[in-house]
Amino acid sequence: MDWNSEHYRRIITDQRRWLYHRDWFENAIREIIGLGKGNPMRGLDAGCGAGYLAFELAKLDSRIEILGTDTSDDLLGSAAVECERQELQKRVSFEKCSCYEMPYRDGEFDFAGAHTLMLHLTDPVRALKEMSRVVKPGGTVFACEPDNFASFPSGFDCASEPDGTDYDWAARKFEYAQKLYRGKIAAGEGDSAVARRMPLLFRDAGLEVFFFRKSDRFLYLLPPYDTEEKLALAENLRVTLSEENCRRFFPTLRSEFKAGGGTDAEFDSFWNERIERQNKALIALEEEKLTWAYNHTVAICAGRAS
Ligand SMILES: C[S@@+](CC[C@H](N)C(=O)[O-])C[C@H]1O[C@@H](n2cnc3c(N)ncnc32)[C@H](O)[C@@H]1O
Repeated sequence: MDWNSEHYRRIITDQRRWLYHRDWFENAIREIIGLGKGNPMRGLDAGCGAGYLAFELAKLDSRIEILGTDTSDDLLGSAAVECERQELQKRVSFEKCSCYEMPYRDGEFDFAGAHTLMLHLTDPVRALKEMSRVVKPGGTVFACEPDNFASFPSGFDCASEPDGTDYDWAARKFEYAQKLYRGKIAAGEGDSAVARRMPLLFRDAGLEVFFFRKSDRFLYLLPPYDTEEKLALAENLRVTLSEENCRRFFPTLRSEFKAGGGTDAEFDSFWNERIERQNKALIALEEEKLTWAYNHTVAICAGRAS
């Protein structure tokens, strides 16, 4: 996975603005880290990318200090710039290291969290063990991860199906996702459905699971596009549905699909239909007629370290 591309920087910065109901995310995190008990807290954001979770955590309370860590120089650079822009540099800092091996003492942090990291790892249990090591006994480890396999059939294309829900197409998407995500695992690119396995993984890492919740979020676009959130979503669709954008991923997706047991012909047939549907959706989007809904499934799991 090329984490340094402009495409990923966009996904992990712009998209984060409308992914969740803010109250759902904030309330969950407050409960998980035990905010409100009065003490200053030091937390870790593993695989921080451009710093989304680090900033969210720091903004919860002025007594929170966060260290964000990642392996990508480019994303750490973006995080540092954004940190200054948000004037958080006194409480948020960034360092380069792998989540599998962090140069921090045992029990150095009150909590350690990750946001859309586990699904990209070949060995999430190893990462969770390392996160547990650096938190105090009784401290919290948490991860917020999408379940892309659950979301996929309602994903990336047009939901404005004038004749009603197209179940045949939804089933084809599942079949495509089955091969693609199996192939991702075979290619060592992680498990796109890791979210649903988190309690097991946390338990295997020696954590005592006390929290596992799913988001309440359906992203939707309904004309007129007259709110900040709808405009951001429309702009995101304009990019993600464009054929030019999809072409960039064609070779990787095709080889992962084949690694998951699919054939060239199956891939091409699915791909062509996808592009045709997306092109129709794009026309509707430009005419401000597209209605679109995406069942974005995200789960947060948390456990206590011993
Ligand atoms: C989908 S991005 C999420 C970034 C950020 N947490 C967010 O939610 O915006 C996944 C991140 O994991 C990082 N990553 C991948 N493997 C890693 C590893 N072994 N150790 C630390 N970071 C890693 C990538 O560089 C990338 O920034």
